[in-house]
Amino acid sequence: MFKIAVLPGDGIGPEVVAEGIKVLDVLSENYSVKFDYQEFEINSERYLRTGDLLTDDDVEQLKKFDTIFLGAIGDDRIKPGVLEKGILLALRFSFDQYINHRPAPLWKPFGRLKRDMDFNIDVFRENTEDYYIGAGGRISNGKGTIDLRVKRQLYDLKARLEVNADAADDYAFEIGMMSRRNIDRFADFVIDNVKMFGEKHITVVDKANVCSNIYGLWREVWTEKCRKAGIDLGFMYVDAMSMALVKNPDKFRVIATPNMFGDILTDLLAEVTGGLGLAPGGNINPQGISMFEPVHGSAPKYRGMDRINPVATILATKMMLDNLGRRDLGQVINDGVRTVFDQGIYTQDLGGTAKTHEVGDAVVEAIRRSKK
Ligand code: IPM
Ligand code: MG
Repeated sequence: MFKIAVLPGDGIGPEVVAEGIKVLDVLSENYSVKFDYQEFEINSERYLRTGDLLTDDDVEQLKKFDTIFLGAIGDDRIKPGVLEKGILLALRFSFDQYINHRPAPLWKPFGRLKRDMDFNIDVFRENTEDYYIGAGGRISNGKGTIDLRVKRQLYDLKARLEVNADAADDYAFEIGMMSRRNIDRFADFVIDNVKMFGEKHITVVDKANVCSNIYGLWREVWTEKCRKAGIDLGFMYVDAMSMALVKNPDKFRVIATPNMFGDILTDLLAEVTGGLGLAPGGNINPQGISMFEPVHGSAPKYRGMDRINPVATILATKMMLDNLGRRDLGQVINDGVRTVFDQGIYTQDLGGTAKTHEVGDAVVEAIRRSKK
């Protein structure tokens, strides 16, 4: 029995999560697996009603589960950053999910590139540091002090920035930070995956030619780790990487990236594979509780219209099962999605006419029929 905490979230989140649950349920009909779901209202509605984002009590409750299944967080009525940092990033940080795994296989025939090619990329995005640490602030009149605090399971870091500028202007800071131990454990995880895939090469992204402090440390760790593991390593600057992913994605297999660049590159790459509607992600803590979600956001303007593509979320349940040690069932879901596409059933974003719930139903049917 797997205990799943379900956080439908905002916008179209609840609709796509419902399709994911349908798919999990058909597995427990046909295979030896059981799921126990509990839904949590951790979203914009609750915030507007009570002022609560992710609370300590939420975290305590969520600790009782094997895994977390998240729809999407985001609401136009609330200033950018409040829900993102207060809920989504807070979840990733609280559960120390230091890896964000975003597979990006080409889903034929939906790929957006003109040239016929094949590729299957796995992106591993560092998920708790970099420019995402929320350390920064503003000062006015050129003078002031900013107190910074970064609290993680690996450390509790305090820093103070004294600013004294000779021009009395407003200044804003956003500070990036990486720690050796975190890069170290992240690299270990990625290298294990490279080996599991039977690969020998990894592409590591950064902007070490400009942000040479933060990505200098990053490179140092990667170089050492790959040397020891016998993995062949290539560094790419993020600008060149963006170009290469559009020009020849077939040259890449495993990509490791810092948090911020990973955010950007995975949207870009999702589009190349066929669109955000196909892109799932796993926020992974190999020793703890992981969380699975579609890469796309809450898309409030499509809410309740039954037209959003549920496949990203269905594939997030596949990643969840892989993570829970049931790769056999993960494969069943993946095959189910493939079958449905081959039957010509897909949503508008992919050029089809199927509704959200029809795609979910079709995947359920395909899984039922595939059971021997
Ligand atoms: C993502 C999203 C989030 C991120 C936002 C909503 C905070 O864009 O999961 O890619 O930047 O990580
Ligand atoms: Mg993003």
